[in-house]
Amino acid sequence: MKQHNTDNEMQIPLDDYYATVIDSVGDGVIVIGRDGIITLCNPAAEEIGGFSRRHALGARFQKLFSQETTLVEMVAKTTRTGITISDHENVVVRSTGKVTPVAATCYPLMRANGENIGAILTLKDITYIRELEAAVRQADRLSTMGTLAAGLAHEVKNPLGGIKGAAQLLERELAEGNDLLEYTRVMIRETERIDHIIRELLELASPRGLKLTPVNLHRVLSDILLLQKQAVIGREISFVTHFDPSIPDIMADGEMLTRLFLNLIRNALDALAESGRLTVTSRVLSDYRMAKNERQSRMVAVEISDDGPGIPKDDLENIWTPFFSSKASGTGLGLTICHKIVAEHRGMIKVESDTGHGTKFTVLLPLVQ
Ligand SMILES: Nc1ncnc2c1ncn2[C@@H]1O[C@H](COP(=O)(O)OP(=O)(O)OP(=O)(O)O)[C@@H](O)[C@H]1O
Ligand SMILES: [Mg+2]
Repeated sequence: MKQHNTDNEMQIPLDDYYATVIDSVGDGVIVIGRDGIITLCNPAAEEIGGFSRRHALGARFQKLFSQETTLVEMVAKTTRTGITISDHENVVVRSTGKVTPVAATCYPLMRANGENIGAILTLKDITYIRELEAAVRQADRLSTMGTLAAGLAHEVKNPLGGIKGAAQLLERELAEGNDLLEYTRVMIRETERIDHIIRELLELASPRGLKLTPVNLHRVLSDILLLQKQAVIGREISFVTHFDPSIPDIMADGEMLTRLFLNLIRNALDALAESGRLTVTSRVLSDYRMAKNERQSRMVAVEISDDGPGIPKDDLENIWTPFFSSKASGTGLGLTICHKIVAEHRGMIKVESDTGHGTKFTVLLPLVQ
């Protein structure tokens, strides 16, 4: 048998060597003969397609991918014409329980004499690119809104101060016991509420700059949880934490991170109403790549999940938008602020929600800035 010499002069049979090469490719590779039968596929293809290699080999491509007409057409056309076809936009692969967006390319399988004997299909999982695109779109939208809101906030701040001052004067003029006193107190309280919203808005629009220090994430989370446990006394809420003890201090703005996680934990507790479970998990992700060409960096992931009612599908797009709130007394700025804090730390925040089952927010933060 032919052998391949590796650097260390170990002798590997050539067939094994080629199989190892194909299996080591991170993208899905599927080879289809002229008769439409799959002759080869690698683990990445198994992962994307949700089938086992044993199941795929010898199966008809058209049958295995019967739901993916775009892919079936690509393979048929390449086999027929010998042309390479790519589609990086419109292809998804559906398997039980997941839909994976893929960049697909179909190459003709040619012998040295030019005879076309089938097709090689490569499938690149582009889930994270899609997620990144969505994050960029969202950041764009938020920055436009932030500028607008800040402009408005500035305009409102002065007249609001005037109203509050006048209400305080009125309060002083009225004798104790006067029925009208209650109205002046409502006026003062409500102007203070608006003032609070405006301060938050202005902070949102102005980059404060991070005050970076080593932050012990678990201490931040534990301190918040300790206080929130007090706040829910009387409700049947259980708190579960799974902290990865190997997480070192991260370089971050501790005050901002407290705000971030407090907002997320409060939202979860609001969603739980009278009873339920709040779970906070932390772990290290090594080799996480934020963008295609960025160097790999180590990130920590903090997940905050609840088994509350979840977020309706139609609302999911809007929850980051300033003033979007489903609560009677919510300002709807909490998640907008979270988004900003995470972005300033060069991290990422995402949400998964299943109506009726619960919601999970995942925050990814780099270990070093
Ligand atoms: N864990 C969750 N479960 C269900 N819905 C949620 C959850 N977290 C957020 N939401 C939805 O997203 C909306 C926006 O959240 P956000 O924190 O921005 O505002 P808010 O909580 O309504 O008000 P506040 O500004 O006081 O935080 C909420 O009103 C709620 O509808
Ligand atoms: Mg909130």
